[in-house]
Amino acid sequence: MQNLFSTRPNEAPWWRDALIYQVYVRSFADSNGDGIGDLPGVRAKLDYLSGLGIDALWLTPFFPSPQADGGYDVSDYRDVDPMYGTLADFRQLLDAAHERNIRMIVDIVPNHCSDQHPDFQAALAAGPGSPEREKFIFRNGGGENGELPPSDWQSKFGGPAWERVPDGQWYMHIFSREQPDFNWHHPEVRADFERTLRFWSDLGVDGFRIDVAHGLMKDLDLPLRNTFGADSAPLLSPPDGQDHPFWDRDEVHGVYRQWRKILDEYDPPRLAVAEAGVSLERLPMYVRRDELDQAFNFFYLRCPWDRDAFRTVIDAALAGVAKVDAATSWVLSNHDVVRHRTRYGLPAGTDLLRWLATGGTHPVPDDAAGRRRARASLLLTLSLPGAAYLYQGEELGLPEVPDLPAASLRDPIFERTGGTEKGRDGCRVPIPWDAAAPGLGFTDGVPWLPHPRDWSKYAASEQEHDAGSFLTLYRQAAAARRRMLASSPGPHISWQDFGENVLAFRRGRLLCLLNFGPDELPLPAGEVLLASEPGISSVLGTDESAWLLVP
Ligand code: NOJ
Ligand code: CA
Repeated sequence: MQNLFSTRPNEAPWWRDALIYQVYVRSFADSNGDGIGDLPGVRAKLDYLSGLGIDALWLTPFFPSPQADGGYDVSDYRDVDPMYGTLADFRQLLDAAHERNIRMIVDIVPNHCSDQHPDFQAALAAGPGSPEREKFIFRNGGGENGELPPSDWQSKFGGPAWERVPDGQWYMHIFSREQPDFNWHHPEVRADFERTLRFWSDLGVDGFRIDVAHGLMKDLDLPLRNTFGADSAPLLSPPDGQDHPFWDRDEVHGVYRQWRKILDEYDPPRLAVAEAGVSLERLPMYVRRDELDQAFNFFYLRCPWDRDAFRTVIDAALAGVAKVDAATSWVLSNHDVVRHRTRYGLPAGTDLLRWLATGGTHPVPDDAAGRRRARASLLLTLSLPGAAYLYQGEELGLPEVPDLPAASLRDPIFERTGGTEKGRDGCRVPIPWDAAAPGLGFTDGVPWLPHPRDWSKYAASEQEHDAGSFLTLYRQAAAARRRMLASSPGPHISWQDFGENVLAFRRGRLLCLLNFGPDELPLPAGEVLLASEPGISSVLGTDESAWLLVP
């Protein structure tokens, strides 16, 4: 089946070096005044996105959902939640994006569904031992009367990964209790997701982001194995678990080999990008030829602001994908982590969960450093070989909002940890579009999370015509990247020596320099294509970067 973008033989896939923009739909743009972003809202901003110079949008889940986890609790995989619009709205958005040469990626959540999903409701109703329960992970409990959870497995959102139902059985949920895990050993679970992939592919979407791609297959042999706390690692970064009962098990690759066949039925083949929190050694397994296409590089995201650390992570990522003849992808922010402008302003080694728990006051981030580094890191990210993922609002230089009032917090982490962890709402505050409008142009009503008082200064309207703004830098960088890619610089970089504090590499005729050190770096001969601060022509200061065209 063809779409507008059918590929010619031997053409590189469109996503190899794509610039992909993540839309957290709920917080992007509200079209009907209910304070919640929606699909017509995204459509209204397509000219802005096209002006930014992106190749594709990844939309976070907009499917019917009770919203216990921001839509990652899906109750129908093949429809649109009325809160976000209709299927017709989605089709219109897709067409309008395609007309602007923007591809569309949707977010598939295969590990778990909502507890309101009809299959889970049927499983609850059917009772212990029924075939309906087989699609999920129901077990009897331990202890004399089954009053103990079946194993020590912990939820990533706090507390046990087991919830007891009135008839006495327990069901497993890696995330909140409203997100029961599917049993991926069940053929009907597999068949249903294949239908979902085909449904959206037939509609014309260009790709899929696969949520918790490393968690699908569980070791369900009885007695269930305990983990003995092996997964008490920080949120969404489980340990390498070759031998773990549910993380990164080898059997999961069988699922993706099957999906590859489906994705390849389309022309061009649909893209699949894995959200897989596994070790850098095992991550390339997810992007082998007969599996998925990309996997987010969270090691790059978590890298401390340190030259050698960046070099190590970049080398390891490039070497890893080279082994399987794939391309890597780079990401610095998303809807699950503290925004990188703020992270880069915090001292190295800051425990972000604890920092959030202080309401962002201990320590107070160095905003000038965070701002400089966020700008400098953009040029690094956009010159590396492979796709780059941007998170909405980073092009406005948005910081984290660590002091949202407790009453407005919606992340289930807050409730499941009894309030000891704030959760991820601070990076999900709605986009400020217009400094002069009520609701900062995000909504005519009351935004679902409040804007901090001083956020009008970040509004797109304020940055539009400012040569020194984040928005201008992002636009210039995307345009310069496009020109650079037109010269087919290839998937390799070669490190250059500019002293121990400078990260420097060549990719084709492009030289990327980032000065981590305290001293000024005189720029070598070459044409300065772009620099992270306006006016740079001969020297790079601390935390500044530049692209040079060299012979
Ligand atoms: C990863 C998603 O990015 C996150 O927002 C969600 O809470 C979990 N997966 C569970 O679906
Ligand atoms: Ca709305």
